Amino acid sequence: MKNIKTQVGIIGAGPAGLTLALMLQKEGISSIIIENRSREYVENRIRAGLLEHNTVEVFDKLGVSERLHREGLVHHGCYIAYNGVTQRIDFQKHTQREVTIYGQQEVVKDLIKVCFDRKIEIVFEADATEINDFMTEKPSISFTHSGENNTLNCDFVAGTDGFHGIGRKTLPKESYNEFKIEYPFSWLGILAYSKPSYDELIYAFHHEGFALASMRSEKVCRLYLQVPNDEKIENWSDEKVWAELENRLGIALNKGEIFEKSITPMRSFMIDNMQAGRLFLAGDAAHIVPPTGAKGLNLAVADVRNLAKGITDFYKNNNEELLDNYSKKCVARVWRVQDFSNFMTYLCHKQAESGSFEQLLQKSKFDYLRISEAYQKTIAENYVGLPFEAFE
Ligand code: FAD
Ligand code: DHB
Repeated sequence: MKNIKTQVGIIGAGPAGLTLALMLQKEGISSIIIENRSREYVENRIRAGLLEHNTVEVFDKLGVSERLHREGLVHHGCYIAYNGVTQRIDFQKHTQREVTIYGQQEVVKDLIKVCFDRKIEIVFEADATEINDFMTEKPSISFTHSGENNTLNCDFVAGTDGFHGIGRKTLPKESYNEFKIEYPFSWLGILAYSKPSYDELIYAFHHEGFALASMRSEKVCRLYLQVPNDEKIENWSDEKVWAELENRLGIALNKGEIFEKSITPMRSFMIDNMQAGRLFLAGDAAHIVPPTGAKGLNLAVADVRNLAKGITDFYKNNNEELLDNYSKKCVARVWRVQDFSNFMTYLCHKQAESGSFEQLLQKSKFDYLRISEAYQKTIAENYVGLPFEAFE
């Protein structure tokens, strides 16, 4: 049994927990991260790939973006297609901002390396089992590590432990309302060693289902197909995946070796309170958005930016106001992002029968998109990410 102590106990070494630890360290505030997976596992977990302008700025300020700028791909627009008719959304023109394509696992590798360089302790393969006394000024985290039970004593607990973590389960049930939508479709995603045959991302509605063409580098493509929720990955040979992607995207693709193939369900989920006493939730622990707007990671970074500011103000100025308003501030942005992600999901996915009222309404949105600069601008400003200040 070991007892350790720090100022902020952080559960989870995902983008939220790692970014928070670095933000606090910059202000001279100590933290320890408890992560139940191995370093190798979290560094290789394949997830998101698109960083908002805001997120890149946060990483710049933390001094963790050198490789991101070297290897990331800056995109000034994207395409939205409807049965082969394509409209470009010009981010530069509408927002003077851009996005960067850079895999989440690369972000996580960079953040972990810098945490270690800056002497931030991350305890891998350590399972947080309980958050204790968070309504007092002396909370603690119980965790198991190498077969031993341990306690991390701290002033604050950050629950950055993802959707299935203990953070949200610990938050008193009566302190929040829960909202969720389970979508009737999933994404089959692949990574392939092949040169992208498109210069920017393509979000394509097709009468047989949605397809998304993304990328990771000049040599690696990331592509997705809408499939039913009960779809089996065994039903999708590599040949079938490529054929369906070409069919739905309406372009020829360079077909290299597929080295990852998986199916992810889609949901919207959130709670309208993210804090109780000295426990604060951030990132996927508090909200999930469907991936169509590429927002999950970016929202996690926006949350911890608010949390780090609040904790810093507490230690530096003995002021708890920012912490008291933490949840309120985050939730305003979360609702905006929930709306945009839900909008993009319903816009781009096949739901209703061709020729039905719902499907013709959906088509009318694409027709409007082609003639309206205002509609394009609305999509652009949400897609690149509204400035942090918009919610302050
Ligand atoms: P996470 O990255 O989930 O990190 C939480 C960490 O906490 C994990 O490392 C976990 O191991 C650890 N943990 C959990 N419980 C405990 C415990 N009890 N003790 C210790 N540690 C614990 N977003 C997009 O924008 N685009 C995408 O294409 C996309 N694809 C996704 C695919 C999948 C399969 C998933 C699950 C998510 C995807 N997302 C995507 C969402 C995006 O990856 C997340 O929003 C992002 O990871 C959130 O970061 P986080 O730090 O809040 O949570
Ligand atoms: C990626 C994922 C998304 O959900 C998205 O909207 C754009 C890009 C990606 O993995 O590259």
